[in-house]
Amino acid sequence: MTDKLWGGRFTASAPEWVQAFGASIQVDQAMAKEDLEGSIAHVKMLGKQGIIAPDEAQQIEAGLQALMTDLEAGKLHFDVKNEDVHLNMEKLLTDKIGPVAGKLHTARSRNDQVATDFHLWLMHRLPLIFDRLKGLQTTLLDLAEKYLGVIMPGYTHLQHAQPIAYSHYLMAYFEMFQRDYERFEFSKKHIDILPLGASALAGTTFSIDREMVAKELGFSAVYANSLDAVSDRDFALEFLSNASILMMHLSRMAEELILWGSYEFNYLELSDAYTTGSSIMPQKKNADYAELIRGKTGRVYGELMGMLAVMKSLPLAYNKDMQEDKEGVFATMDTVLAALPIFDHMLVTLEIHPDKMSASLEKDYSNATELADYLAEKGLPFRQAHAVVGHLVLKAIEAQKGLGELSLADFQAANPMIEEDVYQVLDPMTAVNRRQSQGGTGLSQVKAAIAKARQELAAE
Ligand code: ARG
Repeated sequence: MTDKLWGGRFTASAPEWVQAFGASIQVDQAMAKEDLEGSIAHVKMLGKQGIIAPDEAQQIEAGLQALMTDLEAGKLHFDVKNEDVHLNMEKLLTDKIGPVAGKLHTARSRNDQVATDFHLWLMHRLPLIFDRLKGLQTTLLDLAEKYLGVIMPGYTHLQHAQPIAYSHYLMAYFEMFQRDYERFEFSKKHIDILPLGASALAGTTFSIDREMVAKELGFSAVYANSLDAVSDRDFALEFLSNASILMMHLSRMAEELILWGSYEFNYLELSDAYTTGSSIMPQKKNADYAELIRGKTGRVYGELMGMLAVMKSLPLAYNKDMQEDKEGVFATMDTVLAALPIFDHMLVTLEIHPDKMSASLEKDYSNATELADYLAEKGLPFRQAHAVVGHLVLKAIEAQKGLGELSLADFQAANPMIEEDVYQVLDPMTAVNRRQSQGGTGLSQVKAAIAKARQELAAE
């Protein structure tokens, strides 16, 4: 027998450095609170069901509560020799209340215990994500309202495409973050299930009450199948996947902040607080935080890929491989919970340059579609209108002029249907405002989108 809690059938132990390789306490101590909560609910149930004597259950519960107090005071010390948070806690409980602590593990296994801790850990942190996402969405709405009327080039292929309202651009991100919010909401359904009671894999001979434990811990359902309960990590994969998509959104916008803050664009300037200088070039102002958010997005994707790879081909039910499931989830949670408010403050303190945005619309031909639409409205088939305008664009490029700088004679030579009102049509602000189709960039559409978004946000 070795000195391990499970040491009964063992006659030899690995050297300490090998044991450290097998241990997870370095990582899973982050779930210490959840582990105690799970144990408290479990022992209450054992007592109520008469599986252990009620006074013993009370003794154990008191011991666990005392450990909780110690934990909150930073007084719990874990030992890598005790492998993981579960065995460390049992050891600490035994030190506190003696051998009766050994009754806590009745009708339970570390397999359903670790899954329960992990579910609880995520459940406790989802509200923080909701909160921070909402904060960012509110900022986007505030900015969209503040800058209503600012226009800029809309891009496809990073080439000027058509003029758009800057607020319309901001609202596009609002929509993305709204879907992120909804995805995390959907994911609640699969997090909010109790594995405890599955025991090692097959259920237990004791007359446990899983519903009671679920209620104690705030879960709205229990796993239907004990094998699934201990081997399911879909909920963690869903979290990583949702986090990856959210980070992708942050990263895309971060990229635009970086690009648009460059000398060539100069559409905006990040606050000094969210930029850093160079150790050699005195003039530098670098968008480090935006770059880091973009960079950390890659790491988050990596955690998703890593966990998918860990889970691939694992036979049912529990396998020690699954101990590798937590590190990436914990790191991803830290990244997401930091990236959201950082991004939010970066936007709050952002300075935008509306004059530069509109100036870049002057000779960029992003009003070419307006002229084609103008001719199509007058009855010319759109394909023909496209060709006429293409020709005019070429002419303007050769003359180094914007489309609006061509003379009426130039226009009429290309097509006699073009009249004096063409200059109004070619104005970028007109171009934006005429896009009144549902979901378009026309200011009345953008205003309506903002109002609807405000309502939705308030209703959440
Ligand atoms: N530390 C383990 C983990 O995180 C706990 C479950 C261990 N179960 C077992 N049968 N060895 O996965």
